[in-house]
Amino acid sequence: MLLKNELIKYADKNHKAMKVDLVIENAAQLVTCASNGRAKRGAEMQTVGIVENGALAISDGAIVGVGQSDEINKNYESENRIDAKGKVVCPAFVDPHTHVVFAGDRLNEFELKIKGADYLEILANGGGILSTVRNTREADLKSLVKQSRRRLDRMLAHGTATAEIKTGYGLDTDTELKMLAAIFALDKIHPIDLIPTFLPAHAFPFEYKGREDAYVSLICGEMLPSARHLYLLNSTDFEEIENKQNKIISETFKNMKEDAGIGTFHFPEPDWAAIFESKPFFVDVFCEENAFDLEQSRRILETAKSFGYGLKAHVDEFTNLGGARLAIELGAASIDHLDQTSDAEIELLAKSKTIGIVTPTVNFNFGSAHFADARKMIDAGCAIAVSTDYNPGSAPCPSQPLAMAISCRYQKLLPSEALNAATVNAAFAIGLGERVGSLEIGKSADVLMLDTNDYRQIAYEFGSNFVEKVFKRGRVVFEN
Ligand code: NIG
Ligand code: FE
Repeated sequence: MLLKNELIKYADKNHKAMKVDLVIENAAQLVTCASNGRAKRGAEMQTVGIVENGALAISDGAIVGVGQSDEINKNYESENRIDAKGKVVCPAFVDPHTHVVFAGDRLNEFELKIKGADYLEILANGGGILSTVRNTREADLKSLVKQSRRRLDRMLAHGTATAEIKTGYGLDTDTELKMLAAIFALDKIHPIDLIPTFLPAHAFPFEYKGREDAYVSLICGEMLPSARHLYLLNSTDFEEIENKQNKIISETFKNMKEDAGIGTFHFPEPDWAAIFESKPFFVDVFCEENAFDLEQSRRILETAKSFGYGLKAHVDEFTNLGGARLAIELGAASIDHLDQTSDAEIELLAKSKTIGIVTPTVNFNFGSAHFADARKMIDAGCAIAVSTDYNPGSAPCPSQPLAMAISCRYQKLLPSEALNAATVNAAFAIGLGERVGSLEIGKSADVLMLDTNDYRQIAYEFGSNFVEKVFKRGRVVFEN
């Protein structure tokens, strides 16, 4: 539970109410998911921080007050007030693993799978991911953005206000960069904030059949360096990153001039790790049979790390190749899927800072009775996040509430654990834990107002959508 007094420091010293842009008051439950500056792990995941008859004060897009309505009303004054009587107010969802940018669909494959075809067999025969690759290579940037934007609209309607999106349907330098450009464009035009993940190591393109290691060399030698340069070009719109970069470059020049005299140096590389910290950028690899083996995954992740990228890895979705241990050792922000992860690896995960992202929509979509054992992971002390894995093949699903509902039934998460997993832990899994994912002072006012008086309803009544309003940085961006 959040301490009521925490917000008092923001009030005027003379106890006059401070003027703010918006007050949301009288929530039946204000569910904060507040977390002490790190992801929740183990038993902590059962605490969601409920303030009954709660209220939020919001200014300049950030949360400035959290507490009971009478307290907030005493300390904050606003011309804009929203009465949340009988409603739940909670953090907007964060979706930490998606593949939303792609062209076309996989409706035929859906039917084949119903008739018994196997996912990895379809991929080995040039279908699956590779069929989406063909469509995505053909699509121009404009149509890629247009198709993906509608998917983001559906995610927003289900309460997601921040999401990670991976590339991985290009598998050649131009198309992978085109996908990245699409993510950057969508980030600018859509209310959902987007964190990019570069995933050229999603599958081997058909033109590299029999020369798989040459594709790994292409990723390491050409794609990874190009992607971060594209990121930097794009980043000129992000004031924060630009300032940081300019500062780094000018300081480096100053030192060089002092140390070595003029004319003996080339233009310095910026401090990429520092830049990616202000707006995270990850590299991911699909470590799996018929995809990237352990050695190839190691090469890609180690190269990415040396380039300053944050790391993620798809591991143990069908086969355990040892990817979980590798990614944890390399300090990955998350390891994802975890369907075949061993007890020893769960122990390692529990002791690490890496977050385990589960994708229960995938197992559901495959009609499988086997799910990643998220219960065991939480009981072992791991920090677990839930994602939709929204993609055209293994999980055509935009809804974090549905992912939560499935994880409660098949992975035995409590509704409290599922909510933390889809909000604050998901935010930490994409490097935004200090900015979004919970209702805490100083964080972005990314808030949901739900048409229910008990947050457990989100996971209980599956298939419903209780989202009535989505606020992004304190402004209503979706209303139902
Ligand atoms: O997370 N496993 C690999 N990647 C996706 C599936 C992508 C696709 O089928 O298009 C996943 O499940
Ligand atoms: Fe995935």
